[in-house]
Amino acid sequence: MSERETWATRTGFILAAVGSAVGLGNIWRFPFAVGEGGGAAFLLVYLLFVAIIGFPAILVEFVIGRRTDRNPVGALKDLGHGAWRYIGYLFIITGFVIMSYYSVVAGWFLRYFTLGFTEGYAVDDPEAALGLFGSISTGLDALLFHAIFMAAVLIVVGLGIRQGIELAVKVMVPAIIALLVGLALYAATMDGASAAYSYYLSPDFGVIVDEWQTLLPLAAGQAFFTLSLGMGVMITYASYLGEDRNLSKDGLTIIGFDTGIAILVGFVVFPFIFTAGTDPQQETVGAIFVSLTQAFGEIPAGQILGIIFFGTVAIAALSSAISILEVVVSYLIDEYQQDRVTATAIVGGAIFLLGIPVTQDLIFLDLFDGAVDGILLVLGALLLVLFVGWVIPDAATDELGKGIANLGSSGDVWIWLVRVPIVLVLVVSLALGIVDYVDFLSTDFADWFAAR
Ligand code: TRP
Repeated sequence: MSERETWATRTGFILAAVGSAVGLGNIWRFPFAVGEGGGAAFLLVYLLFVAIIGFPAILVEFVIGRRTDRNPVGALKDLGHGAWRYIGYLFIITGFVIMSYYSVVAGWFLRYFTLGFTEGYAVDDPEAALGLFGSISTGLDALLFHAIFMAAVLIVVGLGIRQGIELAVKVMVPAIIALLVGLALYAATMDGASAAYSYYLSPDFGVIVDEWQTLLPLAAGQAFFTLSLGMGVMITYASYLGEDRNLSKDGLTIIGFDTGIAILVGFVVFPFIFTAGTDPQQETVGAIFVSLTQAFGEIPAGQILGIIFFGTVAIAALSSAISILEVVVSYLIDEYQQDRVTATAIVGGAIFLLGIPVTQDLIFLDLFDGAVDGILLVLGALLLVLFVGWVIPDAATDELGKGIANLGSSGDVWIWLVRVPIVLVLVVSLALGIVDYVDFLSTDFADWFAAR
């Protein structure tokens, strides 16, 4: 194995995995996914999904990685036979697509960060905040900051500065939590707060029953995206791991942080949306920016807080982006004997180009994000779950048991869950996700295309 790194500290793995999980998925994607899913109904389905599917699925990736000590493509070639050996290639494709728009959105956060040093966030009405977002999210600004973010990712991955990332994550996660708690307390004083809480927290079970066909794929996509599941990130990270770790405890810690931060974001964003009187269903990819620039425009020391917030999110995005790129780069290094710098440069260049359309028209964001969340991640997770549950169940339970003093029958419960119920839910989510995506292609995307 070519120069395999290991985690610098015992907690390095947890930190890196939390760093991968916590990112734009929690802070940017979560609030508008809740909006699309109609509020509390979505939140409930999402939480159930994380607990019942996300937790077993993160363990699936962990056992594959730790068993093989290899990149996802290599790991499946190692463990699998026949067609199973090719699942890893799907992850490489998914990684390319995610990274292309992830970098563009991270660039928006960077742009807002720099704004704190110049004009500040003196926009206190929703109209102006929306206009600002419009000017930042597409065009030359977006292209420039996509390039800057991509360059930062390439430097970190190219040099393999793992220690730097571990350190950044140690500071970043507490900083994000502290800032979000502060902002949520501030948001609690707003006029729209109580309406926001009932929208966010009291689910209408009728809605869940009537609209499960849209809620299920939405929640599945969001859960996998935010936990970095379905493209081998957790396989890669667990491959640098010793056998003394309790995988299930580590999995719970990672999921706990990730989910907690997402929930907090809702307590910040929705009071703003309800105070402004806009329809949360209409809130899209700009929701977090529009509500927060208003917050930072109004509160004392808003400019400093804004700089800290947007800067911190950009770092959170960096630690997530690194994990995505690492999968693709480690594959090129292992399978094509490229050196790290060349591999990083090739991959980075290609991803930068793929992201350019997104910087010019947000329809490409829907096109890429829809394919990733609706189809690619769910498909990736489904294949892994089938593989572990049906092809290597004994090796998998054995691996899970290492580092756990008393696994007892929980290993069997886990395999049983993985074999049938999870497979069924994922098959249904995938089918519905494909239907939704085809619908998007034949309506919104077709309209956009026709209008060209
Ligand atoms: N989970 C990260 C976030 O919430 C994004 C991410 C990193 C990701 N690695 C991934 C998403 C792998 C899907 C698959 O921002």
